[in-house]
Amino acid sequence: MELYKKLVSKLINIIALSTILIIVVFFWVINHDKIWTPELEDPILEWNPYDLVLNNSDVPNEVKEGFLLLDSSSIYMGPLNKDPKLRYSGNNLSCTNCHLNGGTKSGAAPWFGIIDRFPQFSGRSNKVGTLFERINGCMERSMNGKAFPKNASQMKKMIAYIEWLDYGIPKLNSKKISGYPSIEIPFKAVDKKVGEEIYLRECVVCHGKNGEGILYQDSKKGYQYPPLWGNDTYNDGAGMNRVLTAAAFIKNNMPYLQASWENPKLSDEEAYHVAGYINSFPRPSKKNKEMDYPDKKLKPISTPYGPWSDNFSSEQHKYGPYPPMIEYYKKTFGIKKSK
Ligand code: HEC
Ligand code: HEC
Repeated sequence: MELYKKLVSKLINIIALSTILIIVVFFWVINHDKIWTPELEDPILEWNPYDLVLNNSDVPNEVKEGFLLLDSSSIYMGPLNKDPKLRYSGNNLSCTNCHLNGGTKSGAAPWFGIIDRFPQFSGRSNKVGTLFERINGCMERSMNGKAFPKNASQMKKMIAYIEWLDYGIPKLNSKKISGYPSIEIPFKAVDKKVGEEIYLRECVVCHGKNGEGILYQDSKKGYQYPPLWGNDTYNDGAGMNRVLTAAAFIKNNMPYLQASWENPKLSDEEAYHVAGYINSFPRPSKKNKEMDYPDKKLKPISTPYGPWSDNFSSEQHKYGPYPPMIEYYKKTFGIKKSK
């Protein structure tokens, strides 16, 4: 009996000791990992296109030209280009008005790592599409223009820049938040009156009373503050014309220079109301929108134009409330909707 007791207490000691050992090793591994990945702690470099791209002799010319197409789109491929044959975008926006800081800002659908993510399935066309086709999607909708033909040199240059981001300045962002961090969807419809109040308080100084934006003093340079509605901005087939997508962009990026995904200024609900407000005004119309999303189940619920594979009204698709729709798609099709 005595022997048995001794054996048991030895066994307990051994178990206790090995548990302590395991815990020690565990924490050592975790901390060890931390010590050996210092690049995660690197400060985020400032985005200065002159130092980083344009006046940088390490950057190939093709990449510099791609940057100019993306960052001064109106001049290089839009209405401000003197040669009508080179005008592909139909409004005076730049790609980088929405993909901020030259497409490097986390939480503003940055282009880091995107080369590896394409080809990728697109519900809008119900097939696997290339990066070329994805950019043409933004050309025809966000830029209210036309698609580039195969082999267009402009497209090659834009993609060269996007590719260069990954090896040219990979440390610009320590945390790469792709797309837009989504908002918590309110259980109510957009209140345009509330949206207007927020707009007048937070947005009107830069984007104007009629959403018309502000041109540079030298108007040949295009917009300093881009328009949000009217005939010189994204058309009604663009992602930004969906309330949930616009709300996520706004929450993580606007007001300009005051908000980031890490440090937003508006609440989810404020971003939602103001997104509904800016999208309540007229804007250019995209043709053949009814052809989008051949499989209608895959259409984002806040797409404001039909047809849909449900019986909710077009008003509800445009302004919510969305939770009943989310519930419907989950129950009927087993699809989880977030935008
Ligand atoms: C009016 C705003 C706007 C403009 C201007 C715009 N885009 Fe976009 N772009 C979007 C939105 C919205 C998305 C979808 C983001 C999401 O839902 O995560 C997107 C997505 C993309 C994607 C895929 C991103 C990803 O993470 O999968 C690429 C690439 C892209 N745009 C390139 C461009 C290029 C190149 C231009 C100029 C020719 C351009 N965009 C102009 C709003 C815009
Ligand atoms: C201090 C000026 C300023 C304020 C305030 C501001 N914005 Fe912007 N906004 C900008 C600039 C500049 C851009 C383009 C960013 C770039 O090119 O780097 C932009 C881009 C946008 C875009 C995408 C481009 C487009 O034309 O559609 C939207 C949408 C937008 N802002 C909405 C808002 C909303 C909503 C508010 C208020 C909550 C707001 N902004 C407040 C300056 C501002």
